[in-house]
Amino acid sequence: MQFQPSRRLPPGPKGIPLFGVLFDYNQDPTGFSLRCAQEFGDITLLPFGPLKVYLLANPEHVSEVLNHKSHCFIKGVSIQSLKSSLGEGLLTSEGNFWKRQRRLTQPAFHRERLAGYGDIMTAAAETTMRQWQDGEIRDIHADMMQLTLLIVAQSLFGTDIADKTPIIESALDAVLVHFSNQLNTFFLLPEWVPTPDNIQFWQKLHQMDEVIYDIIRQRRLAKEAKSDLLTMLLQLETEDGDHMSDREIRDEVVTLMMAGHETTALALTWTWMLLAQHSEVEEKLCEEIKTVLQGRSPTAADVSQLTYANWVLKESMRLYPPAWGTSRQVIETIKLGDYTLEPGDTVFVNQWVMHRDPRFFERPEQFQPERWADGFEQRLPKGVYFPFGDGPRGCIGKGFAMMESVLLLVAIAQKFRLTLDHQHPIELQPSITLRPKFCMKMCLQKREIKFERPST
Ligand code: HEM
Repeated sequence: MQFQPSRRLPPGPKGIPLFGVLFDYNQDPTGFSLRCAQEFGDITLLPFGPLKVYLLANPEHVSEVLNHKSHCFIKGVSIQSLKSSLGEGLLTSEGNFWKRQRRLTQPAFHRERLAGYGDIMTAAAETTMRQWQDGEIRDIHADMMQLTLLIVAQSLFGTDIADKTPIIESALDAVLVHFSNQLNTFFLLPEWVPTPDNIQFWQKLHQMDEVIYDIIRQRRLAKEAKSDLLTMLLQLETEDGDHMSDREIRDEVVTLMMAGHETTALALTWTWMLLAQHSEVEEKLCEEIKTVLQGRSPTAADVSQLTYANWVLKESMRLYPPAWGTSRQVIETIKLGDYTLEPGDTVFVNQWVMHRDPRFFERPEQFQPERWADGFEQRLPKGVYFPFGDGPRGCIGKGFAMMESVLLLVAIAQKFRLTLDHQHPIELQPSITLRPKFCMKMCLQKREIKFERPST
């Protein structure tokens, strides 16, 4: 994109010749974004080599990009680059094809459908905890990743997937590693170059596709309909009586697994860390579990009653948003504030920055679940708090993810107390998601939250 000399540009750091702010950003993506927003205000121009990126810190602008003027944008380069693994799934597709797929898939995520997945979620938590020993130190992030993958895979495929999850897990892991490598090298090395990473990536993807296509074929031949997400996708029909092809179903299935499992695992991992650092919050959570569940296992029907657990998760996703920033490429000229953005420009909307804005969050760095009381979220202006994105491209799995996170949080907290292993450093690794750099080692302490029946 050429910049006309007359074009008014926002302020921003100059960086170094040729590379701009590439290295500053790469050293500390979240901290650098926050410092820029604090220093330069509503819109900061970040030169990434030849690419000019507009970092937005005004909620009205964020909302324009994600909501009212979303038609002026397509997904940014990083999400587009996921097409080699996700194909034309919901996260990566655009235009009329995306609209059709979103319309078709939406009913599978309606509230009444979601309740059916609650039992899968609590059963999976039980299976995970059966492997846990009192006093053991474990990488809780790895456990949460396995747990949420099992849940999304079982919600999609029912029991058909039971012995195949290791293949899927290893392929999705290879996709994540591959994508991080691509991001770190700024997509300079084409994916067809036979590097060890690329070869492994293509092999694992191929193995996973074989498993998925096999299940799809068997399902099409089966006489009895099951009640999982895959059956719903197979049965969906467009207005003209059309169905999704095998390839389209494969792309949606891989997208749902990819978009659904790491984000939810991260939301829980950061929540366990925060609870271990704030014993007063943990105590209140246990009190709520005692009162609402009265000693029994949680079910989908309990989620709306677990008010404090919902606040804990909202607050955790404010401080550690699993999807901490997303970019969009301009396709239609648009004015944001005093500046005109032209096709080819990139905007960067950043949850990490917006969720820490002291104009909207008192003592923004503090973990205070109580701030979400009394309809606080409804009073926030649009574009301030958006862990699930917003507008037409907002997260289709939001309801699924909130229900899953609450159920897993309370099912586990009911039986185990997780404390931090202080030998182990905690650092952020902001890639497309916000990961812990060195896993999350935590010590498990068995506990029973006892419910005392009131004496009559
Ligand atoms: C805590 C968990 C989750 C978080 C924080 C999260 C966050 C997000 C965000 C921020 C977006 C928008 C990305 C953008 O604007 O570029 C998104 C989109 C999406 N998410 Fe989630 N997500 C979560 C869980 C899930 C789950 C459980 C599923 C499915 C089972 C899912 C499926 C999707 C899909 C398919 C999209 C693309 C929607 C579209 O463009 O039409 N997500 N998610």
